Amino acid sequence: MSAAYILVLYYSRHGATADMARQIARGVEMAGLEARLRTVPAISSECEAVAAQIPAEGALYVSLDDLKNCAGLALGSPTRFGNMAAPLKYFLDGTSSLWLSGGLVGKPAGVFTSTASLHGGQETTLLSMMLPLLHHGMLIAGLPYSESALLETRGGGTPYGPSHHAGVDGKRALDEHEISLCRVLGQRLAQTAMKLETVRG
Ligand SMILES: Cc1cc2nc3c(=O)[nH]c(=O)nc-3n(C[C@H](O)[C@H](O)[C@H](O)COP(=O)(O)O)c2cc1C
Repeated sequence: MSAAYILVLYYSRHGATADMARQIARGVEMAGLEARLRTVPAISSECEAVAAQIPAEGALYVSLDDLKNCAGLALGSPTRFGNMAAPLKYFLDGTSSLWLSGGLVGKPAGVFTSTASLHGGQETTLLSMMLPLLHHGMLIAGLPYSESALLETRGGGTPYGPSHHAGVDGKRALDEHEISLCRVLGQRLAQTAMKLETVRG
């Protein structure tokens, strides 16, 4: 059996959500667990179009087994009209077998997002991503206000999960508070997963 890992699963078209995913993975590793970065393919408006099995660059595409065997999950998407992006929703809609088997019940999960505008729906997107995870029986972890970055941020960062304000041109890099909160989520997920494993064991 492979070592316990936190799955950091995201969709990103222009790279901002991918940058957040890498910081969350850093947080997971800082807490002593492996982070497995995975993405989902874009959805084509032509139903017959098929993506290559291995993307040209970046993280590998996620498999159901990646999700089934994780010790915890960080799920990230760009905000699309205040909601998660369709490619991620499409993947989640294909996880009924895991719901039936209860494979994710009791595992910790957190969510993250990136937007073009500062008040453009970060929190609604984060909530929208929590819904399917709650149906799967996962334990949702947000960010506590004991993290000073949550009070000091002038960019992203919410108690529902890390967020990033990428700007209208998408060029605003993650700032120090956004990076810190991404890492905190990774650490919280890893620490919670390890504690749950201890109790179960
Ligand atoms: C179809 C579509 C809808 C979007 N809706 C919103 C929105 O509701 N609020 C917002 O601030 N940005 C919105 N955006 C912008 C993206 O959320 C933003 O550029 C994000 O940082 C992209 O992340 P990525 O670099 O990981 O692809 C939208 C973009 C697209 C293509």
